[in-house]
Amino acid sequence: MKGYAVDAAIGEGVGYTLVENASLEGRNTFRVAARAKLLVEVRDAKALLELSNYPALRSGALLVLGEGSNILFAGDWPGTVLSIATRGIEIIERVGSFSRVRVAAGESWNDFVHWSLAQGFAGLENLVLIPGTVGAAPIQNIGAYGTEVGEFIAAVHAWDRHRQCAVVLTHAECAFGYRDSVFKHEPDRWLVTAVDFNLTTTRTLRIDYAGIAEELALLGAGMPTPTRVAEAVARLRTRKLPNPSLIGNAGSFFKNPLVDATLAATLENQYPALPMWPAGDAGSKLSAAWLIEASGMKGYREGDAAISAQHALVVVNHGKASGADLLRVARTVAGEVHRRFGVKLEAEPRIIGMQRAGV
Ligand code: FAD
Ligand code: EPU
Repeated sequence: MKGYAVDAAIGEGVGYTLVENASLEGRNTFRVAARAKLLVEVRDAKALLELSNYPALRSGALLVLGEGSNILFAGDWPGTVLSIATRGIEIIERVGSFSRVRVAAGESWNDFVHWSLAQGFAGLENLVLIPGTVGAAPIQNIGAYGTEVGEFIAAVHAWDRHRQCAVVLTHAECAFGYRDSVFKHEPDRWLVTAVDFNLTTTRTLRIDYAGIAEELALLGAGMPTPTRVAEAVARLRTRKLPNPSLIGNAGSFFKNPLVDATLAATLENQYPALPMWPAGDAGSKLSAAWLIEASGMKGYREGDAAISAQHALVVVNHGKASGADLLRVARTVAGEVHRRFGVKLEAEPRIIGMQRAGV
């Protein structure tokens, strides 16, 4: 951002810190350079009330940031970045095998999954090792290995910037879908402060997603338990996905596209190997990774910006790529898939700082 040269802490209050012209390079898993005019780090949810009166938070451009594992900075953020670093996990109700658990937005998602397993709960094991915070989990309704987080969410506590008040959204109001929720459609209206989960100790395990049963067999686990399923999923994920602590990435860069029944039937006919899954009224969901690989773009590279040679759905930063470089590669790949298959790919991560967002 022009006019600013160094990070400068400008203030601190009870439960929060303010930094002017803050670097965001260590706050996104693509590890690209970007700056925010103001960074507010909130450690105590109560501080949000005080901060909500600041003009910058009340009505200015505001970006809520968790661990930055689903965001691409293709430019600087011209306003305030709010990092919610609150902590706390509490069982607020227990009836028989059922519990309701309230988790602060700043908790690590993966730590919470391990906490739930240690308590004897079942259900979150398929979602182990997904990076990010609990507060971000409802935003795109994180999902993996046959499970989506929305299935467990009873309510989301948030600050509503439109109405300037604290609200609680019910499960139905969250409108969860595949990589979708009400929160995604109005970015930065909602500041998620905590999430309530319905958890139980008596849930049937889901081991039908490709690879889990085989991995359990390799573990020699006997009767599968939630912890063993988590272990199997963690092994699969570690093998399949590039590790962001070794190479910058944000997991899948594209969503698996939903296409109508007519296009699905045409593609199925022409490409019998193309993986597709029924997607209710939407038609069918196609494997974007397969489409990219079949377009010859797996491993495609421009300088340090590339499509991973390990997994075709992952855009990687080999070192010094900028967000704009990564976005250029993503657009080239999406263009090639569209040209070959007539299928439009949509970006999964939020893209910041370009006139024309998306791919
Ligand atoms: P950020 O990237 O910081 O933010 C993401 C979005 O959420 C932004 O729009 C941001 O404004 C908003 N946001 C964040 N916190 C809040 C809040 N408290 N209130 C309001 N808005 C908020 N995702 C999956 O679904 N399944 C996977 O299997 C999966 N695997 C991944 C693997 C790797 C290696 C990586 C790097 C990412 C993967 N992801 C996956 C994507 C990512 O982990 C999730 O989207 C995660 O929920 C992002 O959390 P975050 O805290 O990093 O959010
Ligand atoms: N495939 C290829 N080439 C590749 C990689 C995969 O053709 O390079 C094919 C595989 O053969 C397989 C299919 O693609 O048949 C699906 O692959 P995979 O099981 O790895 O799942 P995915 O569709 O690539 C989705 C999610 C992941 C989630 C996994 C597991 C999306 C956009 N991605 O990936 O989520 O972890 O399933 O459930 O839905 C994320 O959102 O960031 C993410 C990593």
